[in-house]
Amino acid sequence: MRRGDLSQIIAIDATVTGLEKRDYWRSIYQRYGDSGHVERQFLVADTGERVVGFVIGEVRDWEFGSPPCGWVFAIDVKPESRQAGVGTRLLDAICANFRRAGVRKVRTMLGRDNTLILSFFRSQGMMAGPFIPLEMDLGT
Ligand SMILES: CC(C)(COP(=O)(O)OP(=O)(O)OC[C@H]1O[C@@H](n2cnc3c(N)ncnc32)[C@H](O)[C@@H]1OP(=O)(O)O)[C@@H](O)C(=O)NCCC(=O)NCCS
Repeated sequence: MRRGDLSQIIAIDATVTGLEKRDYWRSIYQRYGDSGHVERQFLVADTGERVVGFVIGEVRDWEFGSPPCGWVFAIDVKPESRQAGVGTRLLDAICANFRRAGVRKVRTMLGRDNTLILSFFRSQGMMAGPFIPLEMDLGT
């Protein structure tokens, strides 16, 4: 990922989520795109001219009592570039980098109703893991 890719990434994210979050993406770039750490990954798929997808993730140690593992935080492919193997190649690439960083497990979290991303991750071999998410309202 290069700084010059940022505006295309913001546009892809806005297509998927309906929100343009410029400040958020600038801080994500600083943490993941420009870190120089193998533990922090921000990868793009491009055609040579334009960005068609991206994946972001990080190796985290001992959080939730878990031995170090790779987390995939986000993966998005431009709608017109989907179902052509781009998502698979992005996930393969980040997993290869996680292996290089020394971990042997990858995890992610997804919206219960997001059947598209669930189908994708299942197709890649991901299964329900040993952790469950919990939440509660904090009120005002
Ligand atoms: C999920 C996503 C990344 C997949 O990217 P992609 O480039 O289309 O994926 P691939 O072409 O590599 O597809 C791999 C497999 O995923 C599954 N898959 C992909 N699109 C699918 C669809 N529309 N319906 C069902 N399964 C699908 C298939 O099993 C496919 O394998 P196949 O082509 O042999 O059938 C892409 O659809 C996307 O960006 N969706 C929105 C993501 C999102 O909601 N992000 C927010 C949370 S992070």
